Amino acid sequence: MILPLNLGEKSYDIVIERGALKNIGSYLKLDRKVLILTDSGVPCEYSQCVKSACKQGYIVTIPQGEASKSFDNYKMILAQMVKYGFTRTDCVVSVGGGVCGDLGGFVASSYMRGVDFYNIPTTLLSQVDSSIGGKVAIDFEGVKNIVGAFYQPKKVVIDSDTLKTLDKRQVNAGLCESIKMAATCNRDLFELIEKSESLEDDIDEIIVESLKIKRHVVEIDPTEKGLRKVLNFGHTIGHAVESDEKLGNLLHGECVAIGMLPMCSDDTRKRLEVILKKYSLPTQINSDADTLISYITRDKKAKGNNITVIYVDKIGSFEMRDIEITEMKDYINRGIL
Ligand SMILES: NC(=O)c1ccc[n+]([C@@H]2O[C@H](COP(=O)([O-])OP(=O)(O)OC[C@H]3O[C@@H](n4cnc5c(N)ncnc54)[C@H](O)[C@@H]3O)[C@@H](O)[C@H]2O)c1
Repeated sequence: MILPLNLGEKSYDIVIERGALKNIGSYLKLDRKVLILTDSGVPCEYSQCVKSACKQGYIVTIPQGEASKSFDNYKMILAQMVKYGFTRTDCVVSVGGGVCGDLGGFVASSYMRGVDFYNIPTTLLSQVDSSIGGKVAIDFEGVKNIVGAFYQPKKVVIDSDTLKTLDKRQVNAGLCESIKMAATCNRDLFELIEKSESLEDDIDEIIVESLKIKRHVVEIDPTEKGLRKVLNFGHTIGHAVESDEKLGNLLHGECVAIGMLPMCSDDTRKRLEVILKKYSLPTQINSDADTLISYITRDKKAKGNNITVIYVDKIGSFEMRDIEITEMKDYINRGIL
């Protein structure tokens, strides 16, 4: 299946096809120099598959984990491209989760003022969310995604067979981004995830429906000036939870799970709790409101003492609320602590 994403001359196709990786040469223009970026946790046969379809493919493998979205790796990859004589007509392909996608995309956006970028996301989070929309970035001076660009890929190829090797906890954390999109924009998708008896059987439909939501939002608001903020549902408190190191190593999706719960009506919250528990996602944390507020104050999206948050009264709909950061305390105290 192909979902076209319409952004004028920056339009591109999202291909969703089981087994596509084995046939990647028919989807991407690989008869040129290709920098293939992957990480040490992604099974190496995925990047090998891409390399074997290239005329001149160079695999760069970074260590797995968020720490790899760094300035050092950004520089190291650019150095490889200079060393191998990459020109403006060559390209970068990311094969991995959001870490490879964000870093590879940022490299592509800046090498020679921009070369073609293809994304082959292999985690559920990157398949339903981060691989489309053109937000590419690295972390810097301890701040996530602080240096980056809006740079659209030339194509995104999603092969859900790659999820078979992904850790269950990672799958569930990625599913949380679909739950987030369904809760705000699509009641049917929410019900599908709620009632699903086999995630493996339903995963392609979940991916496609999630991508349709994200595509709609990105097409209307490519540079996050308005509607795109809906994708931040659960993320204001979620990011604060993620920043609180004493909470241990929670995955991004797990933090979003926690972050959504205070931002909805009691009825919605009850349904959310059930669905989150079904997929072993956390619904409570051991922190305190003051600590979380201190992290929210540092949120990139805060404007002085105010912040725009997404609130869900009824599943499938949302409202944007511009509130004072101190008011977040009342939300936080509604039962996640
Ligand atoms: N650009 C955006 O719009 C956007 C949106 C959301 C998140 N993000 C970013 O995405 C990143 C998180 O992405 P993620 O959750 O995919 O994490 P990730 O890229 O770190 O991948 C998670 C883990 O899964 C492993 N892995 C990947 N694919 C695998 C597979 N098929 N089989 C086995 N293991 C596999 C990786 O090696 C890694 O250890 C964060 O840096 C976040 O900031 C970006």
